[in-house]
Amino acid sequence: MKVKIHTLFQYLLETTDAAPEAIVGFSLSGSPVLGDYLDDLDPNQSLDWNGRDFRGLPELRDHVLAQAGLNGICTPQDVLITAGAAEANYLAIMQLLQPGDEIVIETPGWPQAEVLAKAIGATVVKVTRRETDNWHLPLDRVADAVTDRTKMIFITNPNNPTGDLLTADEMRALVRVADKVGAWLLVDEVYAGLEWDGPRAPSVAGMYARGITTGSVSKALGLQGLRTGWLICPDPELVMDAVILRENSSEIMNIMGEVIAEVALRPDRYAASMDKARSEGAANLAQMNAWVDAQNGLSWVPPRAGLIGLAHLPDGIDSDAFAKVLLGEPYRTFLLPGSAYDQPNHIRLGVGGGASVNLGKGLDRVAQALRDWSKT
Ligand SMILES: Cc1ncc(COP(=O)(O)O)c(C=O)c1O
Repeated sequence: MKVKIHTLFQYLLETTDAAPEAIVGFSLSGSPVLGDYLDDLDPNQSLDWNGRDFRGLPELRDHVLAQAGLNGICTPQDVLITAGAAEANYLAIMQLLQPGDEIVIETPGWPQAEVLAKAIGATVVKVTRRETDNWHLPLDRVADAVTDRTKMIFITNPNNPTGDLLTADEMRALVRVADKVGAWLLVDEVYAGLEWDGPRAPSVAGMYARGITTGSVSKALGLQGLRTGWLICPDPELVMDAVILRENSSEIMNIMGEVIAEVALRPDRYAASMDKARSEGAANLAQMNAWVDAQNGLSWVPPRAGLIGLAHLPDGIDSDAFAKVLLGEPYRTFLLPGSAYDQPNHIRLGVGGGASVNLGKGLDRVAQALRDWSKT
């Protein structure tokens, strides 16, 4: 098994040294700083591992259940703390998929499941989200895509990159589709908590015996560098399989990630952080919507949740070429080309990142680059 690079990561690698003056398309809230947590940290905190549970700090796992609305539905034994949602996805996919199995994924979507499935030698079956349907996941086509060989359905809800959101009824319908063929249903909800159009969708770990919920403190809370996330699943064997795989890679969680995430997810603090993230996100999205409306030939479906969405470029502009020109002089602005998501006529727009990304300046420069492009 060799894991091959995906175009999205290839683009990030190629552009890491570019030192842009502005970034448009950030997917996470502005990041807090360590000083925001010092008053709640114990200077005598041991830097050994937590020493209490291989699943992660018990009080952190309690908070994880609470934020997912799973108190009394799942138990702390169902929660494994991981190095971000990325590791949670990795552990589940690697332990469940075998060569020859089928996995149903969405496109556009987060590439991790496809990359890992290909490395395993599983067959990837893609269900297309169409722009003409507002990028909404077509459940009938998911139902058509599953077979007796389907081992897993993997989706992001809210979706990266479109910000589309499934309702509770749709989640129940998806569970029925998975259950019909006995497939695992992994729902990556790393963008949950910033829903603009309807309530947060219920977590699949509370709805289905083979439901796996993954998430983290990375996005709405902006704590990506802590590398702290989770996997929630009511199947004890899957959780233990994940513990066993992790034991043979990073072994245990980093204690500072666990301790700071535990503070961040304490109910009062979490509620205040989410209020702030929601009001900033809503204001920035209003600014983005107005900006998109003002651009000739550019259009987008505003995200129903989260801070990112895909915008359709004016006819004839290739996203790769545009993103590269935009990164150079005189624009010096970073954004992700849609080619990273098999959408070569789109760019990923987003409003996260806080003050440090200079969103206003970035939007002015994207507008300028679009005007300049139309003259060439
Ligand atoms: C859908 C999705 N899942 C997982 C991740 C990784 O998140 P984490 O920082 O929690 O590992 C990302 C990051 O962009 C993502 O977009």
